[in-house]
Amino acid sequence: METLIKEAVKLIKKSDYTTAFTGAGISVESGIPPFRGEKGLWNKYDPQVLDIHYFYSNPKESWTVIKEIFYDFFDEAKPNFAHIGLAKLEKQEKLKAIITQNIDNLHQEAGSKIVHEFHGNSKQLICTSCKFKAHASTVNLNKAPVLCPECNHLLKPDFIFFGEGIPSHAYQNSIEAAQKSKVMLVIGTTGEVMPACHMPVVAKQSEAIIIEINPEKSKFTSSITDIFLQGKASEIMKEIINNL
Ligand code: APR
Repeated sequence: METLIKEAVKLIKKSDYTTAFTGAGISVESGIPPFRGEKGLWNKYDPQVLDIHYFYSNPKESWTVIKEIFYDFFDEAKPNFAHIGLAKLEKQEKLKAIITQNIDNLHQEAGSKIVHEFHGNSKQLICTSCKFKAHASTVNLNKAPVLCPECNHLLKPDFIFFGEGIPSHAYQNSIEAAQKSKVMLVIGTTGEVMPACHMPVVAKQSEAIIIEINPEKSKFTSSITDIFLQGKASEIMKEIINNL
C-alpha cells in the first residue's frame, strides 16, 4: 500500500487539475451510515421514502422516515479527516473541486469551498408551493408532515429525490470539473447511481487518472480505476496528506 500511496501523492503533486468525487462512504467515519452494504440504510428503510411521487402521496410517512434518517442522524455528525484532508488539499491549491453525491454538508463544514452538490443539501427546506426557503434548524421537524410557516403547504428537503432531475447548475459544474480533471480522487462510493456515477467516467474519458479510495471494490474498481487505495477514507487521506 505504501508504494501505491507514494504513487498517488506523486500524481497529485504533478497534476494541475485534481478533483474529488465523493459518496456516502466518506461520511461513514462521521457516524452517517452508507446507503448500501451490510450496514446500509436501504437494508433498514425502503428507498421509496425518497421517491418523489411517494413523498407527495404519503407526506406524513415519508417525512417521519426522512427526519429519522437525515436529521436525527446528521445533526451530530462532524467532518472526519477525509473531509478535512480534501479541504487542506484545496487550501494548498492541490484540489480544484469536489463533486459530491452527499447531502450532509460535511465538506463545507470541513472548510471546502468549491463543492458541487449533485444531490442537493439536506440543511435547506423549500416550500412545494410558495418556494419559501428555510434552514432545517429553524423548522419544527417533529410534526410530520412538515409544513411551510408562510403558506402552510408541504415543505420538502432541498435534496434530490429519486425521480427528480439533477439541479442544472450542479450538473453543468460537475461535468466541467470532470472534463478538466487530470487526476480524480473517487472516494467512498459504490458507483451505482446514475447520472452521478457518470462523472468519474467523464473524467476517465478526458484522460484523467482515477485514484479510488474504498475499503471494498466498487463498480469503478475493475473498469476505470487506475490506483485502488483499499481502506477507510480518513486513514488513506491521512497517509496522502502526510506524504505530500
Ligand atoms: N471509507 C471509504 N469508503 C467507505 C467507508 C469508509 N470508511 N465505509 C464504506 N465505504 C464505501 C462502501 O464500500 C461503498 O462503496 O462507501 C460506499 C457506500 O456506497 P453507497 O451507500 O451506495 O453510497 P453512494 O455510492 O454514495 O450512493 C449513491 O445512492 O441512495 C442514493 O442518493 C443516494 O447519494 C446516494 C447515492
